[in-house]
Amino acid sequence: MTRAVIELTDIEFAFPDRDICLSGLNFRLNEREKVGLFGPNGAGKTTMLHILMGLLAPQRGHVRLFGETMVNGRAFDESRLRIGFLFQNADDQLFCPTVLDDVAFGPLNQGLSRDKARQRATEALATVGLAGFEHHVPYRLSGGEKKLVALATILSMQPEVLVLDEPTTGLSPESRERLVSILTGLPMARLVVSHEPDFLAATTDTLIALRGGRIVPGRLTPHAHVHVHEEGDIPHQH
Ligand SMILES: Nc1ncnc2c1ncn2[C@@H]1O[C@H](COP(=O)(O)OP(=O)(O)O)[C@@H](O)[C@H]1O
Ligand SMILES: [Mg+2]
Repeated sequence: MTRAVIELTDIEFAFPDRDICLSGLNFRLNEREKVGLFGPNGAGKTTMLHILMGLLAPQRGHVRLFGETMVNGRAFDESRLRIGFLFQNADDQLFCPTVLDDVAFGPLNQGLSRDKARQRATEALATVGLAGFEHHVPYRLSGGEKKLVALATILSMQPEVLVLDEPTTGLSPESRERLVSILTGLPMARLVVSHEPDFLAATTDTLIALRGGRIVPGRLTPHAHVHVHEEGDIPHQH
């Protein structure tokens, strides 16, 4: 039988004194399933991810992770060690004095020795193309570099599931390509939020959308764009 790793059932959520943000929201991610989520700005995508990570408590509904209903903070603490969650804003992810400390933090929390955690961190930094950044100060990095360090903090945990909130924001075209190749090379189940249809098509298998406070099937319609650029009259390919 296919096992669910993430299940959200009949979730309702409103921020204090605000209109309802999520209502009647249902979502299930199975083992090995790769799902892309899109939706307009302000639709509640980040809020949904924060609920499934236990960072916000819904007014109604249930969160189940790895088959267990999340009844309290401790249950979420344990599940979070198995989920690689990338915050939309990398500044929310990085809080240590050095890049190495930030990237080794997850493995240390999982109970690995200092040496093993350091080794995992070094490997993860090399994977995202930041070998040698170990002693840099996170808050002085560029936006794109921070995003890659944030990604390394997740990869170093070797998580069972990836939950990524707008992972391409601020990345250079080269870093974006590296991210695509990292993600296509990883087998684990994932939920990826992005505004970029091409990125979702490359890194996930199924598309869903968040509209009107709930999850609906995603539909992308391929269509051609007319475009112009310098030297466009010279025969070329895109
Ligand atoms: N801390 C907060 N307090 C009050 N309203 C918030 C807060 N965070 C987000 N919102 C509002 O909740 C709605 C959903 O936001 P969000 O989940 O960030 O959307 P998305 O990620 O889809 O762009 C928006 O209307 C946003 O303004
Ligand atoms: Mg968001």
